[in-house]
Formats: sequence, C-alpha cells, structure tokens
Amino acid sequence: MATSSDTSSIPASAAEIPDLPVLQAIGNRRTIRYYDPEKKVEDWKIQAVLQAARLSSCQGNINATEAIVVNRDTCEIWDDIEECVSGFNVQMIQQSSHIIFWLTNINAWYGRANDGLSTLSLSGALTKYHGWNYEFSMTQTIPRLMSFPEDRTDQLLRFETGLAVSQAMMCGNSLGLGQSLIAFGRKPGGIQEVFGLPSHYKFTWAHVLGYPLEDAKAGGQRPRLKFEKLFHKDTFGNPYMPDPQVDALLREKGMIQEQAPLPGRIEELDALAERFGRDPGCVHWPGREIERLMNDDDWDFGPRIREHAQKVIDAGGLPDYPEEMRETFTRIMEERGLDTSKYLS
Ligand SMILES: Cc1cc2nc3c(=O)[nH]c(=O)nc-3n(C[C@H](O)[C@H](O)[C@H](O)COP(=O)(O)O)c2cc1C
Repeated sequence: MATSSDTSSIPASAAEIPDLPVLQAIGNRRTIRYYDPEKKVEDWKIQAVLQAARLSSCQGNINATEAIVVNRDTCEIWDDIEECVSGFNVQMIQQSSHIIFWLTNINAWYGRANDGLSTLSLSGALTKYHGWNYEFSMTQTIPRLMSFPEDRTDQLLRFETGLAVSQAMMCGNSLGLGQSLIAFGRKPGGIQEVFGLPSHYKFTWAHVLGYPLEDAKAGGQRPRLKFEKLFHKDTFGNPYMPDPQVDALLREKGMIQEQAPLPGRIEELDALAERFGRDPGCVHWPGREIERLMNDDDWDFGPRIREHAQKVIDAGGLPDYPEEMRETFTRIMEERGLDTSKYLS
C-alpha cells in the first residue's frame, strides 16, 4: 500500500499544527486563484484534509464520498486531465500543488445502508429511545431507502459530498492552504473517462490546493446578499433580521471581515499578471449595469466596493451591453417567472 512520500515534513508533535479557531477559519476562507507554483502542499496536510471529509456527517453512515488526489509532478495522466478543465481554471491547475477529485459512490446507498446503520447502532448512536427497531428497519426503512430511484439517491448523496468537501476545505484553510473549487466543464464526461470510473461513481467536483501567491485575504471578503434577504424567520418570506450586536461580535472573532476590494488589491492583481506574462486588469460590466447593481437593495455592499465601482465607471472604457442577447436573457428569466425589469433595465 502506498504511504506518504514526504514523511520528513510531518510535524514532530500536534502542538506544531496550527489551531485556528473555527469562526476565524470561516472568516479567513477565500477562493484563491493564484498559487505559488514552487510550493508543494505537504502530504500530511493533504491527509488531514481527506480525514476532515471522511469525518463529515453522512446519512446512515454509508460513506459515499471518495476522492482521487492528483499531484501534477507524479500524475501520468496529467495532460488528459488538463484537457477537461474549464478554460478559466487552466492557470489554477497549473500553479496549484494538488487537485482533489471528489467522487460520489451512488452504490454506497444501495449496498451499505444495512451495514452503515448497524455500525451506528454498535457505536451507541441508534437507540430504541428514538424508535429504531431491527425488524422495522429491515422490512420497511432499509428496503424503502434501497428502492429510491437513482436520481433521488444522486441528489441526496451529492449533497453529502458537498458537505464533506466543505469540511475538507475548512480544514485546509485552518492549515494555511489556499483552495478553490474548480469546474471541469470543457469536456463533459471527460473526467469520468480519464479515470475510467465505473458508472455508479459520479465525479462531483474538483478542488485545487496550494500555497497562495496572492495575499491570503485575497483582497477582502467577497460581498454576499444581505442576511435578511437570504434567511427567513418562522415562515417563508418573513425576513430574519440580523442583530448588529451579533455582527459586531462576529467581526471581533474574525468571522465577518473587511469587504473587498481592500486597498492595493487591484495593483496586486496587475503585478501578478505582469509576473506571469498574462493580461492585466479585471473584467468589467457596462457602466449602466454596474450602477444598477450598486443600487440593488438585495446586496450587502459596503463603502469599498461602492467606491471602486464608481472609479471603474469614471475610468470609462467599459463594454456595451450586448443588445443581441437581451431577448435570450428576457426569455430565460420570464420562463422562470423572474422580474425582468429588475435585471434588464
Ligand atoms: C461549487 C463551486 C464551484 C466553483 N467553481 C469555480 C471555478 O470553476 N473557478 C473559479 O475560479 N471559482 C469557482 N468557484 C468559486 C466561486 O466563484 C467563489 O466562491 C466566489 O468567487 C466567491 O468567492 P469566495 O469563495 O472567495 O467567497 C466555485 C465555487 C463553488 C461553491
């Protein structure tokens, strides 16, 4: 069996492993898109990340999430992998240290429900107190679960894989790694084929890891919709208002951090582009579109992004809205019952 190749990097004691508090780790998380191509992630950290996924919660303890860890330096099918990655992720896989391909084993649902539940019972997790009963489980619950159509199982287990990946990423983050999820959309079905996966193994998502070349804060926390636009209280449509006192405390704990773009971010991006001979600059939307977005009350925009948006508008040279696409966007939104006047002014 293969063992870790760089045992020399394993910390001599657990005390040497960084212990970032979880609220701070959540706050520090960013999608990192620039990696130091010279720095490999130590095997022990990759193993810790995988352990975090393995320990995440899974229905009936069926362990449906698996992964293939790829190291560019040793992987013999690298070129085939690279052919499948979406174009905007090529630089990321070339610079990062490892790619983890997260897989969902659909057959775990059909094959392991029985044993998984038995392990929970033996662990003291399933009890008669909650109504668990062997005969009912074997004649009703497990056969019912095992008769789910594959699309239902697929949905349930992909959710679980997402959960495992999130936990894995949080672990990587607390160990000081930079990470991103990346799409492999260039060749649909390509990754399944490259690895020769049996049809019940679904390639769910890929995840790159490395040491950030950009500042670890990646220019600040990226904006989200306002809390109360996302969360409802007691009933759908009743906004759950956040308490400013709670926000202030979470800020103090490092979970809510300064919003992007932090001072110097744009210059940092241009310096990185110059260093690697790539085009400088961010991609921008038309001025009218930026103005409309900044006035959209759903978003939680702070002063930094507003100020930057104004600078972008003032600098000019922005593209025009592609009028030939308006009809397409209108049709797609109307099919979904969306308010096109909000999005298509
Ligand atoms: C499922 C998923 C897939 C993603 N795929 C890509 C990707 O292919 N390329 C990329 O650069 N970022 C990708 N991202 C990153 C998001 O675009 C990112 O979350 C967004 O920029 C918000 O930034 P933050 O993660 O730093 O908060 C993905 C994120 C998720 C959750």
